[in-house]
Amino acid sequence: VKMLTRIPETVRWFRKRRAAGRRIVLVPTMGAMHAGHLRLIRRARVLAGRRGILAVSLFVNPAQFGPREDFRRYPRPIRRDRALCRISGVDVLFAPRSSSMYAGDASTWVDETRLSRGLCGRSRPGHFRGVCTIVAKLFHIVTPDLAIFGRKDFQQAAIIRRMIRDLNFPVRLVVAPTVREKTGLACSSRNTHLTPAANRKAPAIRQALLEARHAVHRRPMAASRLRAIIRRRLRGFRIDYIEVVDATTLEPRKTARSRNCVALAAHLGNVRLIDNIIL
Ligand code: PAF
Repeated sequence: VKMLTRIPETVRWFRKRRAAGRRIVLVPTMGAMHAGHLRLIRRARVLAGRRGILAVSLFVNPAQFGPREDFRRYPRPIRRDRALCRISGVDVLFAPRSSSMYAGDASTWVDETRLSRGLCGRSRPGHFRGVCTIVAKLFHIVTPDLAIFGRKDFQQAAIIRRMIRDLNFPVRLVVAPTVREKTGLACSSRNTHLTPAANRKAPAIRQALLEARHAVHRRPMAASRLRAIIRRRLRGFRIDYIEVVDATTLEPRKTARSRNCVALAAHLGNVRLIDNIIL
């Protein structure tokens, strides 16, 4: 797998391939790859085709972490990630240094101001501004025809879709299903920080969301009641939020109906877990 770290060289590399008519598919990641990433990469390989370029970016983006969040302890197994990319048919890995991605006095940001207001945006101020800014930068540098994101980060995918539309990025967005461990726990790089006891507890999130979907299967229900059902299942978690929202606009719903999205974030120890389900 070709490794690129410097931005001018990366821009030239992709410009040349694009001029030769090669389709470029991008999987943006922060590394610490797990089965979820590998599924995105496999899908991207198919979408790129034999002649296309499958690019993975690997960058732990400081701009999307709050001052008290886990930027410094975010796992960075770069050699393992590179090996996984190689055996998964990735053509090029773009892994810039933080100092080359952001000038010391960088002062321009991409801020989506509507879909970012609730859910994770409320408890992580500035997070989506950091995500939109880095994704916009990656789009400029890599110039993908297509970019793939995971559905576990439901709000992130909706916001990127909006950014693409609002800023006219010529990029098609593909959102791939959440990959889960056997227990139902959504795969996440942060799962490696769970203690064995927390690991046993964490699958309750999926069970609670499945129970919620089951409860709304026959008839709509007050969102507050549905939240109480989920909360009851999550004793021992520190709940950040449980919300019933419209799956496209992310506007909160008072009544939970089929096709709404229930999204939640909860802490187990010092690990923050998120998940969601379409009712
Ligand atoms: O989902 C992630 O891993 C990150 O938010 C992303 C999209 C790579 C931007 O840093």
